Amino acid sequence: MTATFNALSARLRATYDEDGWCPVPFRFDKAAVELIRGHVDSICRERRPEVVYEEGTDVVRAIHGCHSFDDVCAALVRHPRLVALAEALIGKSVYVYQFKVNLKQAHEGAAWPWHQDYAFWSEEDGMPCPDAVNIAVSLDDIHEENGPLSVIPGSHRLGLLDLPESGGGKDDWRRHVSEDLAYTVSADTAEALARKSGKERMTGRAGSIHAFHPSIVHSSSNNISADRRALLLITYNSVDNAPPSPIRPEFLVTRDSAPITPRHDGRLGIETDEQDIAG
Ligand code: SIN
Ligand code: MN
Repeated sequence: MTATFNALSARLRATYDEDGWCPVPFRFDKAAVELIRGHVDSICRERRPEVVYEEGTDVVRAIHGCHSFDDVCAALVRHPRLVALAEALIGKSVYVYQFKVNLKQAHEGAAWPWHQDYAFWSEEDGMPCPDAVNIAVSLDDIHEENGPLSVIPGSHRLGLLDLPESGGGKDDWRRHVSEDLAYTVSADTAEALARKSGKERMTGRAGSIHAFHPSIVHSSSNNISADRRALLLITYNSVDNAPPSPIRPEFLVTRDSAPITPRHDGRLGIETDEQDIAG
């Protein structure tokens, strides 16, 4: 492991373990966000299997696996602060399991129903346990109206909920990236959980970073606003938790599970709120 485990990581880890998610007290600066956005926008214009559209349209819903073909995305997943964060939250050496950007275009970006990511990784890929973490980087300002991610705190401790009896979306990876998700948590189950534990939204300005657990119950609504909501998601998995023989496309499940080597890239600057790192 490369991370230094300090007071800040201890505090984040405690919140993450308890709630299943946490806001991260540093963010990417304006220049970094603009650079990443530029690369994302140009990938969106390409016709390639990694680009997924909203059902029946040419509106880009998401792009996948960009860390393996785009230099800025490759640098981003190796950013020393992100690797250290993932290692601190999981407590082990990590590699990149999945990389995606969910675009949620203005007025057109469709919802993500309530679900748990680990349902897909366990049932479809055979990931042994949820020893992974999602690091979410906001590429746009994310507010209440442009479809922020909602999470139910503490729901990551409940195991997998509402799994279908006979497979979910085997052989149909499109149902893992569309509004018609193969593994969902029913609205009844989610509402009951939210009545008990509440519901929190991951809002924040462009560059903000949040972490959330593979088993946390989460969703997001349609983007009914005039503002795009691009959310970049890097899933780091523990190197000893790689699925033995995944079959989904490599742009959904990275095959190389060697520990990632952090690398500084001067183009990807970080800003920190001093009061957040004190103590
Ligand atoms: C979203 O982009 O709103 C959904 C992301 C996710 O489910 O991981
Ligand atoms: Mn998800």
